[in-house]
Amino acid sequence: MRGRFLLALSGGSTPRQLYTLLAEPSWQQRLDWAHTLVFFSDERDVPPTHPDSNFKMASDALLSHLNPVPQAIYRWHTEYSPAMALADYRHHLTLDNTLPVPPTLDVVLLGLGPEGHTASLFPDRPVLDSEDIVSHTYVPTHNSWRYTFTLPLLNASRHIAFLVTGSEKQEIIDQIFTHQAAVPASMIHPVPGDVHWFLDSASAQRLNPNILPS
Ligand code: 6PG
Repeated sequence: MRGRFLLALSGGSTPRQLYTLLAEPSWQQRLDWAHTLVFFSDERDVPPTHPDSNFKMASDALLSHLNPVPQAIYRWHTEYSPAMALADYRHHLTLDNTLPVPPTLDVVLLGLGPEGHTASLFPDRPVLDSEDIVSHTYVPTHNSWRYTFTLPLLNASRHIAFLVTGSEKQEIIDQIFTHQAAVPASMIHPVPGDVHWFLDSASAQRLNPNILPS
């Protein structure tokens, strides 16, 4: 028993439904929030009050409703300089430098973009070669900056959970499951951890039913 649970939440629109469910009283007691430290696997470089903020989305749907409150909630301090915000997050991820680098998070929630990005790791971007655990990265397709966990950190996790919904994801899901895509999401192979895919029927509709659990 480690006495703490290191959980990283994902952003985007897909997890909002899960967060809303987890905020319901009957679900709240299923997690030991009082011993849970909450992180964000990525964040848009906007203020925490901005409608695009992953922190705001998760707070509105889940974190602000929790009682007892989590042991800690670590948002990305987007108001700091990028170097300071990264140093601040490294400090929290290593529990004030008491954990080895890369630290092992217990559960990391991730989403998936139609072109295969996950967290804010987009195809063909230099951040994919980072040896650091966190990065401030420019996303040309979104003309914006983001903070993100890197592959070394993600691949040190105990459990990765991909949450994917919508028919617009069916092609990339098919490519990933048939090993045809070399995209960031297909570079997630935690050792000795594991990866779980939570797909709705729309995103999974191209998959060969024989490979799906019954
Ligand atoms: C973000 C996310 C990103 C997201 C995918 C899927 O900040 O946008 O972390 O990686 O998970 O873009 O987004 P949707 O759930 O909105 O499809």
